[in-house]
Amino acid sequence: MVDVILGLQWGDEGKGKIVDYFAPKYDMIARFQGGPNAGHTLYVEGKKIVLHQIPSGIFHEKTINLIGNGVVLDPITLKRECESVAAFGVDYRKNLFISQRAHIIIPTHRALDKASETSKGNEKIGSTLKGIGPAYMDKTGRNGLRVGDLLDKSFTTQYIRLRLKHQKLLDGLNFHEDITEWEEEFFEALEFMRSFKIVNGEYFINDKIQQGKRVLAEGAQGSMLDVDFGTFPFVTSSNTISAAVCTGLGVAPQKIKDVIGVSKAYCTRVGSGPFPSELHDATGEELRKIGSEFGATTGRPRRCGWIDLIALKFACMINGVTKIVMTKADVLDSFNELKVCVAYKIGEQLTEEVPFQMNKLNIEPQLKTFAGWNTNTSSVVDCNKLPEPMKEYVAFINKFLGVPIAYISNGPGREQLIENV
Ligand code: GDP
Ligand code: IMO
Ligand code: MG
Repeated sequence: MVDVILGLQWGDEGKGKIVDYFAPKYDMIARFQGGPNAGHTLYVEGKKIVLHQIPSGIFHEKTINLIGNGVVLDPITLKRECESVAAFGVDYRKNLFISQRAHIIIPTHRALDKASETSKGNEKIGSTLKGIGPAYMDKTGRNGLRVGDLLDKSFTTQYIRLRLKHQKLLDGLNFHEDITEWEEEFFEALEFMRSFKIVNGEYFINDKIQQGKRVLAEGAQGSMLDVDFGTFPFVTSSNTISAAVCTGLGVAPQKIKDVIGVSKAYCTRVGSGPFPSELHDATGEELRKIGSEFGATTGRPRRCGWIDLIALKFACMINGVTKIVMTKADVLDSFNELKVCVAYKIGEQLTEEVPFQMNKLNIEPQLKTFAGWNTNTSSVVDCNKLPEPMKEYVAFINKFLGVPIAYISNGPGREQLIENV
């Protein structure tokens, strides 16, 4: 069977830490979508590491890690990342497998990403500029290069053809960038990738499932960044929800068991786009400061606000979430008062539904206030020892969403996770 861990908000919910925590219970961790736009932070032996492409099970010796067909892969990032995990003593040659059907991000995809953002003026998405959108466009446009193509003699010809196509587009956008250095590094990285375990991902994973092995699918980004269900057009270019596990790995829907949704105890977003419960005041600043809310991939400050139960309930619905992990609860330790968004007011209308084109509406969040707990919770290990106001806060969210908050994360460390029974 396959369990899934994915983000329920706008990304950066703490998925990396949670996957790393649960990894010992699984035989395989598999990424099914997204690419180096992801930044998943882990603490290994007290040292911080951010993974962009490699699944977060890589630090567990007995766990197989698979980069699935739904991922767009940047060879340069992959090579650098392999070198950085090797510094921790990880034998990535043994435990890392790549699907031959995963698409490759080439240097001109990154240039196109920049060109597209530049051409948008004030309407910028705030992309991470890693080439994600253009690479997925080439996938659906049936032009892209795949990892399996690397083993084909005609790869260089195919590459040159695609680069030429991109160059025409870049000329049309009047965008010029010297990619010579990138290209050199890119070709070195391709050589490095050729020696990898490139597999037929769908057979590889289904064989393991058949053998009774346990698989954990690791989501990137968050449900509100999903290309279909997120705050379009301020989204990423892949489906980030549980349904994407099937298409991004080649597993059938009946194989999926638990869908574990990760949500912060508050909410953040990086990049542009609607965020109804955003705080533009000193409280927002405080959340950013205490929560160290700066992007793991780009270093940009994250926008901060209260937890949005309307968006969360929507995310639980479309993903079929069976359990929630609430992360960064400790960040709220010193607030006197907390708020949660329980409805949206649009004009004179109150609604509990996520509307179409959120970006074009003036949404007033309806907030319910809770007392803070003013207690340091970062070393609590037993849920019964949590302060009463925190229990009330969690119980309210639990009831509102109708999905159990099975774990509360109270710090970035591996061991800082409380089972909420
Ligand atoms: P991801 O993209 O979902 O994996 O999340 P990121 O790594 O981008 O961002 C989450 C940040 O919060 C990282 O810096 C984590 O180390 C940190 N973090 C995760 N869980 C907790 C927690 O429970 N408490 C605190 N204080 N930090 C946490
Ligand atoms: P993880 O996996 C947070 C955001 C970008 C931008 C939009 C589109 O670490 O949670 P893209 O580069 O995909 O074209 O950017 O999506 N975004 C993320 N925000 N966490 C992420 O990944 C993100 N990946 C993309 O900031 O607003
Ligand atoms: Mg992140």
